[in-house]
This record gives sequence, C-alpha cells and structure tokens, in this order.
Amino acid sequence: MIKAVVFASGTGSNFLNILNKNIMGIEIVMLLANKECGATTIAQNHNIPYKVIPYEKGFAKQDIEKRYVKELKEIEVDLIILAGFMKIFTPYFVKEFENKIINIHPSLLPNYRGNKAVEQALQDGKGIYGVTVHYVNELVDAGEIIDQKKIDYDGNDVDELTNLVHQVEYEIYPAAIKKVIKKFKEN
Ligand code: GRF
Repeated sequence: MIKAVVFASGTGSNFLNILNKNIMGIEIVMLLANKECGATTIAQNHNIPYKVIPYEKGFAKQDIEKRYVKELKEIEVDLIILAGFMKIFTPYFVKEFENKIINIHPSLLPNYRGNKAVEQALQDGKGIYGVTVHYVNELVDAGEIIDQKKIDYDGNDVDELTNLVHQVEYEIYPAAIKKVIKKFKEN
C-alpha cells in the first residue's frame, strides 16, 4: 500500500474528492496544512490525522520545512499530493522527496505558472485554459507533466472558469494519481 500525505491549506475540495474516490493501492495517512482551513475540517470529519505547521514570520522557510520533513519521514511517506497548499518549497525540501511530490495546477502548463493562474489566463485573452498535474521540482510549476486537459471556454468570468477548472480537476487528479501508483509498482 502506498502511503500518501495530502498537503492542503484551502477549501480542500480536491482533498475531499480524492478521499471520496477511494483510490485502490493508496492510503491517505495524513493531511498537512499551514493553517486551519476547510481541508483540516474535512480531515476531522473523515478521521484522517492532520497537523497544522504554520509558516511563522521570522523563521527561515527551510527551518519550517524541516518540521514537515520530520513528520513525513516518521510516516515513511511514499507520495506527497499537493492540493492547494499555496507555498513554494525550497530545493532542500524537493530534494528530500525527489519524484515523490505531485501537484495540480489550474492552467494548461507551461502557460501561466504561479499564483492566480485562472486570472492570468483570462487576462491574457488567448483562450488557453486547462488543468495540469505534474511532478514538483525546484522550479515553480515546471516539473514533468503527468497529465493535462484543455478546457474550452468562451466567457470572461473568473468564478465561472474556476468552477469549470474544478470539475476537470476532480476527474484528472485521481486519474493522474492512479498513473503514478502504477509507475511506482513497475519500479
Ligand atoms: C485548485 O484549483 C488547484 O488547482 C490549486 O489550488 C486549488 C485548490 O482548490 N493548486 P481546493 O482547495 O482543492 O478546492
């Protein structure tokens, strides 16, 4: 059984969706968050152990990440699933878990990396919309792509497009996780 930890610090709808899908071969052993949020409430309601490790001001990012690393090493985590964690990791953290961290990003990468990707895409006005699941490397939203899906949208409304993005995310993330598990088993 692959031991997975989800990182989420927002609404947690992707986290909930992953839990509800009951993906075979994987056990969600913990949620890690940087603040109390929708995702931590979901963890509580589903009896998933969770920890909040805040990014406190005045602390070096790497020192905060060391606390995360400690938790993950104790669990002997196989896979880290980022679902709206909203923090960029240092190369130190990424190296600790090379090829074990995956992320979902609300754009058709390599277009619109970083924050507010849906807004970036709308502002650009080229109609390039979609969702990408990728491995995490030292660069922002630039690791190897596992899966992506284009979204056709003619409007100009952030909420409407975000909603479409979420619907695609709920399909594509569990499918990409299954792909990753398959790869793990082959190796
Ligand atoms: C998703 O849109 C995901 O692409 C991005 O963060 C958002 C998280 O949403 N990385 P939710 O908390 O899962 O609803």
